[in-house]
Amino acid sequence: MRKIIIAGNWKMNKTFQETEEFLLELTDFLNEVELNNIEVTICPPALYLEMATDIAFESKFSIGSQNISVHEFGAFTGEISASMLKSMDVEYCIIGHSERRKYFNETNEMINTKLKILRRNKVIPIVCIGETLEEREMGVTKKIITHQLEEVFNDIEIDGNIVIAYEPIWAIGTGKTATPQQAQEIHKFIRKWLTDNYSERIAENLPVLYGGSAKPQNINDLLKQPDIDGGLIGGASLDIEKFSEMIDIAARN
Ligand code: PGA
Repeated sequence: MRKIIIAGNWKMNKTFQETEEFLLELTDFLNEVELNNIEVTICPPALYLEMATDIAFESKFSIGSQNISVHEFGAFTGEISASMLKSMDVEYCIIGHSERRKYFNETNEMINTKLKILRRNKVIPIVCIGETLEEREMGVTKKIITHQLEEVFNDIEIDGNIVIAYEPIWAIGTGKTATPQQAQEIHKFIRKWLTDNYSERIAENLPVLYGGSAKPQNINDLLKQPDIDGGLIGGASLDIEKFSEMIDIAARN
């Protein structure tokens, strides 16, 4: 059985104090629930990773980074490397988020390089893919997804420790969620691609998360879909009440 991952992508939000307060409240909450097959992870701003991994060490959640450099080390002022993450027990790293593609000109080729670096450093990548509204309306969603998968996974061996997040760009931060059926169709398509390009065993075991305006009101129906294995949650993960409610729903799903 695939595990369910409930991951919070905080983006550029929260102060140090707010982060600490949230993570301590999350610790208390997780001590009270039966998590079963659920893994909870928080991706705070990089500046707070050290404090966050310290709190997570004594708690039932893990920590992820929102990004890494495309380089392994060296003279790249302001950048953070995969080996730095590993040395602080950061478990996951989001790569290929549509905001990084759009505002920081990240290409599939760069994401492929980051994926390789993360694999070498044994940090689990959460690889984001997804189409724009225009692409969906033109009916080329599956073509776009295939193209992203082909380029991002070029020359990558999968041995299990990779997560994919399907995030339709038109649903991110817009309040407009893909319907469970729309999401399921693409998740199933991604799994088929994994079967065709890797193996049935890999396709069956790799978690595929949904992201894009996931919230307490829709997470249950999304998680009921056979190929949706959790959520990459932005806005709703900033609020401890909403985020805990989503974990609670996932644990009972
Ligand atoms: P959202 O963000 O939940 O606020 O739509 C999701 C994401 O960007 O990962």
